[in-house]
Amino acid sequence: MKEIKIAQAPVFTSPNPMTFICSKKANGKMNMATLAFWTYASTNPGKIVFSLNKEAYTLELLAKNKEVVIAVPGVSLAGALIACGTSSGRDTDKVEKFGIEMQKLDGTDIEVPKDTRLAIVADVCETVDANDHVLHICNVKNVFADESVEAVFGWNGYAELAAAQKK
Ligand SMILES: Cc1cc2nc3c(=O)[nH]c(=O)nc-3n(C[C@H](O)[C@H](O)[C@H](O)COP(=O)(O)O)c2cc1C
Repeated sequence: MKEIKIAQAPVFTSPNPMTFICSKKANGKMNMATLAFWTYASTNPGKIVFSLNKEAYTLELLAKNKEVVIAVPGVSLAGALIACGTSSGRDTDKVEKFGIEMQKLDGTDIEVPKDTRLAIVADVCETVDANDHVLHICNVKNVFADESVEAVFGWNGYAELAAAQKK
């Protein structure tokens, strides 16, 4: 085996699940950031974890409003994953700017893209400093799924965003 850096490791675990972390701004508008560092942490009770870089506006939003939705998008949103992952909601309304069609979910006022395969509604219950990121531990409140939507994954690390099966 050859020794590599941790930043190169995702190339070796591809395809990697891709998500949007959806949260609400003080003005009531949605914010969406691209998020690869998340996973399930417990099933009973349901918990998920994700890690947010310290520059992310989402970090500020979650410090005020603990509710968040992790949305696994469909392949039509591959371009939006790049756009939302390379711009900040601090100075942009990403939903409007990138023309992302949204849908409402029962029990929360945080909206997710219409083309969503899985949406996990959760509340942040604990944060842990992780140097350039902050680890968030969350209690799952509701989970919604649509099996007709084909999820998009990061390939070659995150260099290419595409479905898991090439047809
Ligand atoms: C493919 C991809 C994956 C990303 N994964 C993460 C991640 O897991 N955690 C994170 O903090 N930022 C991640 N980012 C970067 C954020 O999406 C980026 O910092 C974004 O501008 C934050 O938006 P915000 O300032 O509106 O919160 C990723 C970006 C891309 C393009």
